[in-house]
Amino acid sequence: MPPVLRVRDISKVWRIERTGEEVMALGGISIDFEQGEFLAIVGPSGCGKSTLLQIVAGLEEPTGGTIEVTGSQDTQKLTGMVFQEYALFPWRTVLENIVFGPEARGVPRTQREAQAQMLIDLVHLRGFEHRYPHELSGGMRQRVALARALANDPRVLLFDEPLASLDAQTRKVLQTELVRIWQETKRTFVYITHALDEAILLGDRVVLFTARPGRIKEIVLVPLPRPRSITGRREAELLEYLSERIREEVERSLKAEGLT
Ligand SMILES: Nc1ncnc2c1ncn2[C@@H]1O[C@H](COP(=O)(O)OP(=O)(O)OP(=O)(O)O)[C@@H](O)[C@H]1O
Ligand SMILES: [Mg+2]
Repeated sequence: MPPVLRVRDISKVWRIERTGEEVMALGGISIDFEQGEFLAIVGPSGCGKSTLLQIVAGLEEPTGGTIEVTGSQDTQKLTGMVFQEYALFPWRTVLENIVFGPEARGVPRTQREAQAQMLIDLVHLRGFEHRYPHELSGGMRQRVALARALANDPRVLLFDEPLASLDAQTRKVLQTELVRIWQETKRTFVYITHALDEAILLGDRVVLFTARPGRIKEIVLVPLPRPRSITGRREAELLEYLSERIREEVERSLKAEGLT
């Protein structure tokens, strides 16, 4: 099967108008997002991971390179985004948040509400349809954010550290849930995390970025059966390998900045 999306030599220079400063965030990224894969992305802080996701989502223009989409859909229709901060509308209930996209696109009420009911079951939020975001736990809000993204029927779901602000126990539960939802929906998941153990638990492949300007240092395959456990021997070996590789990058960038 052809990849669902091709990232070709994407570079990005951010210009800060106020100071005239330029930051090269991405130094040429090329990767294919395969149909139905779970792709994890890790790398040192500031290496351009979020920048890449924004470009793939069509929210920012790259300085160079192209995003090629299979079929005729544009990238904004193809992708859906889930952020670390719950970007929910506080004045809308769970159900109203989930139907937001379809409503904006003019999908008839009965149709969009029937779909929202299915999504509420998928993300296990039955009974909370009429709550407002502030009446939910952090983990539940991320379930809503995921359902809201899925309501637009994207082929590629983009996640930017979605579990980073949750407690360890909730994070663990949602990691398992994410894998289940990924398996049930058969979408392509592209998932940024700073937690290497999470990348290994979730990813079919783990893309490791260099320090800024971000390039791909290595793509590590995780050919392990699911459910995975971070105490498993192969998982632990991979974790050690990735930690070492990322440490090289962090040290290199500290040296470049004269901090060591
Ligand atoms: N809107 C913006 N305007 C100017 N510079 C930006 C903007 N967004 C990001 N940058 C800069 O681009 C670089 C990469 O940032 P980005 O947020 O993509 O990194 P990241 O890998 O997601 O980091 P983290 O792991 O800390 O989230 C940083 O130096 C950052 O300051
Ligand atoms: Mg980021």
